[in-house]
Amino acid sequence: YTADDPFINAMIEKVKSQLKTMETTDMNVIVSVRSGDNDQREQDEIVDEMIDAGCDVLCVNLVDRTAPANIIKSARQSDIPVIFFNREPVRDDLMQWEKLYYVGCDAKESGDMQGEIAANYIKKHSEVDRNGDGKIQYVLLEGEAGHQDAISRTDCSVKTIMDKGVDLEKLSYQFADWNRAQAENRVSQLIDQYGSEIELILSNNDEMALGAVEAYKNASYRQTERPIIFGIDGLTDALEAVEHGTMQGTVYNDKEDQARMIALLTVALFQGSDIEGYGLEDDIYYMSQYRKVDADNVDTFLGK
Ligand code: GAL
Ligand code: CA
Repeated sequence: YTADDPFINAMIEKVKSQLKTMETTDMNVIVSVRSGDNDQREQDEIVDEMIDAGCDVLCVNLVDRTAPANIIKSARQSDIPVIFFNREPVRDDLMQWEKLYYVGCDAKESGDMQGEIAANYIKKHSEVDRNGDGKIQYVLLEGEAGHQDAISRTDCSVKTIMDKGVDLEKLSYQFADWNRAQAENRVSQLIDQYGSEIELILSNNDEMALGAVEAYKNASYRQTERPIIFGIDGLTDALEAVEHGTMQGTVYNDKEDQARMIALLTVALFQGSDIEGYGLEDDIYYMSQYRKVDADNVDTFLGK
């Protein structure tokens, strides 16, 4: 959908290296990666070009997950299977043809896990409630309107924290497009507005969480004056932030596992071999498991 998303770029690198390991003397794998530049029409055109150029399998991260119709139509006309990933089309769209697949995660799980780590941390550290009013004043950084991960992570994270008996008070919800620089801007404005009132920042992904960390650094807040900050993805920068204590936790979005399945499916669909053993749900979905990361286990993830 774009070439500017660190998580997606890291996952694409894994897909490439997985596919490389699957080459044989009879089969080379040639991977072309194109960016949709955040424009669904442009992505549709690129898909047509790739089909004309003779591709055998398409792996597509939609710009607009509600608009896969043109891509499905073109692929079907040329009998080219499509593995959608990361941005989940609705089930009705995936049912339109038997050669459509989805590789991703259950977004709800990541929100629940983020909520669990945050609630756990808050219960162990009474100093998080800096003003001592018995409530945790929080800010939520949202990825992108309409994205299944943003919607579910936001809902489930907040709900889980409250279910665990922590009293929350919402100060502000801000969209920052999964993006570090945008989040840094938004949080800088919130620091101007709320000063040290913010006690917790829940971010739909790590890049935005790291933007928040930057904003506090720029505002010269010491660690004890900052809110606790939680992300999702488990990219190296965020794992290091958890290790250094500038972030308190993240949720590992298993790009290796998703890349492995994208590569396996790609080759199997090309060879026309059986995919029964891959455990796809309804013969369409592969959902990877998220994992919780905090200061106690971050080392095992950094050692990956
Ligand atoms: C999410 C990921 C975000 C961003 C987004 C793009 O799964 O957590 O960091 O990459 O996908 O669609
Ligand atoms: Ca408070």
